[in-house]
Amino acid sequence: MDKVIIFDTTLRDGEQAAGGTLNIQEKLQIARQLEKLGVDIIEAGFPISSPGDFEAVKLIAKEIRTPVICALARAHPHDIDRAWEAVREAEHPRIHVFLSASDIHLLHQLKKSREEILQTSHDMVVRAKKYTDDIEFSPMDASRTEPEYIYQILKAVIDAGATTVNIPDTVGYAIPDEFGHLIGGIFQNVPNIKQAIVSIHCHNDLGLAVANSLEAVKQGARQVECTINGIGERAGNASLEEIVMAVKTRKDFFNLTTDINTVQIYKTSRLVSELTGFTIQPNKAIVGANAFRHESGIHQDGVIKMPITYEIMDPRTVGIPASSLVLGKLSGRHAFRERLAELGYSLNEKDLSRAFAAFKELADKKKNVTDRDIESLVAEEQRTVSEAYHLDRIQVSCGDRGIPTATVRLIAPDGQVLADAALGTGPVDAMYKAINRLVGVPNVLTEFSVKSITEGIDAIGEVVIRIESEGITYTGRGADTDIIVASAKAYINALNRLLAAQGIAG
Ligand code: KIV
Ligand code: ZN
Repeated sequence: MDKVIIFDTTLRDGEQAAGGTLNIQEKLQIARQLEKLGVDIIEAGFPISSPGDFEAVKLIAKEIRTPVICALARAHPHDIDRAWEAVREAEHPRIHVFLSASDIHLLHQLKKSREEILQTSHDMVVRAKKYTDDIEFSPMDASRTEPEYIYQILKAVIDAGATTVNIPDTVGYAIPDEFGHLIGGIFQNVPNIKQAIVSIHCHNDLGLAVANSLEAVKQGARQVECTINGIGERAGNASLEEIVMAVKTRKDFFNLTTDINTVQIYKTSRLVSELTGFTIQPNKAIVGANAFRHESGIHQDGVIKMPITYEIMDPRTVGIPASSLVLGKLSGRHAFRERLAELGYSLNEKDLSRAFAAFKELADKKKNVTDRDIESLVAEEQRTVSEAYHLDRIQVSCGDRGIPTATVRLIAPDGQVLADAALGTGPVDAMYKAINRLVGVPNVLTEFSVKSITEGIDAIGEVVIRIESEGITYTGRGADTDIIVASAKAYINALNRLLAAQGIAG
């Protein structure tokens, strides 16, 4: 059976999503999980875009040995040299060169002729080829480019040594049938096409990224570029989990396979959501909270009698924990460790002790501790491991009579205990003002959201906030049964990320 190559671009196009910035360690953490997931290629970043991106690609190239590690480069000599510097230590390096091809881009953005673009595409692939054999080329905005011109570009770059040619629907404009025709036409009209893998890269502006990708696969494309949870520029990219599960579930139709270890999907999805701060909509296919929940009585009756009646996939195949086992305050360290292992976490003794202490504290407040609670708890522990400022105490007073007041105590990077109090329009505002006075780094709060991660009045509340400083957005998350405490943790988390990125502390 033919294999579809899975090219994951969560760390590059995914990270381009507004507000989705990740730091170097977070990128490495995601890359490790992508390796476990079994992706063939990790597009680790765009090295020329910033020193941070360069360092992240370099680190991933050094550490992650099984997948191909790819770096993106514009069709400029300096970009290509920098991309190579970043991936040169990879076991399997790839350079991905791109250049706009549509008349719209040529006329309004690049102000270049088709001949110039054709020549540059060829020459830059030749340049990249001096560094490594594995070269991918993308004619950007291909879906709005005259097909005959795409054929010419592809022929030229394959002659120059490109081993993968990628057809991007950059602005998510294509319709499945039309995109399928474009791919079919490429196979028929590019004379040297057999010397390269045909790849596709679809954006989701019309909600068609997965449909377009699958149509292209039907036409013979054998590499799909996609992201976890479909995150990416604007409306996002094609979602990896949807493509992989469509190919797997409808093997009868596609007669294709992937090397994805599907039981790692859920964990990868949670990790990406956690680190980017992008929550997953409940009805999101495959990984949404409702994706395997049956509400209607008729459906529930069918599923109890035989799951296949209303379930086309077994939730366990994507790693959704099947166990309904809940832990409580009498559960011991052993049971806690077992449950963590079943959820895919392997913590060292020190982290286990911290997580177990947090679990006991939670179990005192909450009768049943569910898998989602445990995931949130482990995430919370991981967030606090390398923080500069640590939230020591917070106390608020609020109500419809008095002026909301917050008193905050923080531990500074040098171990000093800092305390202050502030008034605000509400308890969260007061708390943010007090923290800001203590930390003293200018920033603007641009987003604040709170949600309960499990049902029930004693549920853990999870807060996601975004702050902006010098044009860059930093996301922070915090979880606690008390939403004011969760808000303070989220704010400290975002500030710590800002401080680390600006090299001020941490
Ligand atoms: O959407 C796009 O065209 C891209 C290219 C860089 C492949 O992301
Ligand atoms: Zn893209």
